[in-house]
Amino acid sequence: MSKTPWWSHAVIYQIYPRSFADSTGSGMGDLPGVIAKLPYLAELGVDAIWLSPFYVSPQQDAGYDVADYRDVDPLFGTLADADRLITATHEHGLKIIVDLVPNHTSDQHPWFQQALGDPDARDRYIFRDQPNNWLSHFGGKAWTQITEPDGTPGPYYLHLFDTSQPDLNWEHPEVREEFENILRFWLDRGVDGFRVDVAHGLVKQAGLPDHPHRPGMITDAELDHNITDSDSFTPVHPFYDQEGVHEIYRSWHRVLEEYQDRMMVAEAWISPLFRLFRYVRPDEMQQAFNFTFLTAGYDAQALHEAIDISFAEAHAVGAPVTWVLSNHDTVRHASRFGLPDPTSYPDSITAEDIQPDEALGRRRALAAAMIELALPGSAYIYQGDELGLPEHTTLPNEARQDPTYRRTRGAEYGRDGARVPMPWRAGQPDGWLPAPESYHRLAVDQQDGVPGSFLETYRQLLRLRAEYRLGSGQFAWSAHHDPHRGVLAFTVTTEDHTGTQRVEVIANLSDRPVTVAPGELLIGPGYAESMVEPDSTAWLIR
Ligand code: NOJ
Repeated sequence: MSKTPWWSHAVIYQIYPRSFADSTGSGMGDLPGVIAKLPYLAELGVDAIWLSPFYVSPQQDAGYDVADYRDVDPLFGTLADADRLITATHEHGLKIIVDLVPNHTSDQHPWFQQALGDPDARDRYIFRDQPNNWLSHFGGKAWTQITEPDGTPGPYYLHLFDTSQPDLNWEHPEVREEFENILRFWLDRGVDGFRVDVAHGLVKQAGLPDHPHRPGMITDAELDHNITDSDSFTPVHPFYDQEGVHEIYRSWHRVLEEYQDRMMVAEAWISPLFRLFRYVRPDEMQQAFNFTFLTAGYDAQALHEAIDISFAEAHAVGAPVTWVLSNHDTVRHASRFGLPDPTSYPDSITAEDIQPDEALGRRRALAAAMIELALPGSAYIYQGDELGLPEHTTLPNEARQDPTYRRTRGAEYGRDGARVPMPWRAGQPDGWLPAPESYHRLAVDQQDGVPGSFLETYRQLLRLRAEYRLGSGQFAWSAHHDPHRGVLAFTVTTEDHTGTQRVEVIANLSDRPVTVAPGELLIGPGYAESMVEPDSTAWLIR
């Protein structure tokens, strides 16, 4: 059997540093806090961690506005803490992926500060005397006019996100050189990979043509999976998925090749899926987040289609598939799946909205996790997924910090509901965002060691996934598969010197019990006497 790279079947745990573990009582998570929780993560059974940005930043977009790519923000610790974290992660047998934010810097980055004061130092960003009509992802216009040092009105600069996040000009050789050096800086320190932020945005269409639509995450109109003809495809947005981005990733691929076993994962909200898989052609990145699976919602037919097309497109370029249900930009799936329409994909849920059914949402979240964690490929989990953590759906507006809330003047509520600090123990004081009451009930110390708790079930799932090597198995839909009736069923087969092992996964997303062929149960919280209860999944040996 050929040895596959670690990322092709890894379970990768996303840490949102400000909300993970607070070692000082400041209300903000930090890197020493992450180090202290490595035993928890190793015991959980993940293979790798990915940390959202911890670099020096004015924190206008929770660290996705970087002022110094080579140092740690004092909020989170020091560069020595980052080094200790890298070493300690490896000592725990885990890999570590860090976030790279190449589309924009912070407006406090020395390059931008220099650009403000010196008209001859503006080429590293996108300055124009006349802005076009582009809109910001976070609301409002994508251009802001500067004032010259002498007080006269200056040109406009492009920011697809907040005004504090000027877009870099990737046509400039210094920008390219700088990022290759940043990659080397962290590779030399021992990181195993990079999650590349807005990977589809770096290159803009020549001439910056007008475009009426606000950049967003995938919209329904763009989700036309039937388009598979690459020749006739034109990107929907002139600022996303331009051909020129691929040369950048080819050059980064060459940098990573100077080291061993390092990877990149693209964060690119693009559709149709064949466009996404162009980022993981053999000489580009190693992985891309599969948001088609995430946006499919709790719906057997949509999941069936998402799974089929993901395998097909991945196969076409020879890349591993990834699976993900939530991250720091989405409403947590335990809440989405508890909404009256569990296929809906709201930007946020607030106190004024219909509240999700917590118990139903959590039950469905486990059923969905048991699909995700059994599928061959790499699975991403967001901190708290293992607790079945819901979104904070009644967050007071005065607590909100997402720039979207401010920039849309409250018309959109933003992503804070998914970013509430991780509850380690009941009674834990609130951190930078207040926690809902449920976080005390669902805290780690309330679930740890409790048979049948979400956390213990999750640990068991990850143990079984590793034992049966599900991440590197062969996938096939099985006889019980009946998506029209709400049943997803597939087998995952692995072979080694001891013989063939086959696990059947039967997910009942319908509201009626499903009878299945008898077999040895591996795990199945809603399974008894050959029946899979509604909203539950069973893993059986076949
Ligand atoms: C994607 C990140 O995940 C999100 O949190 C951030 O606001 C934008 N990129 C801009 O960097």
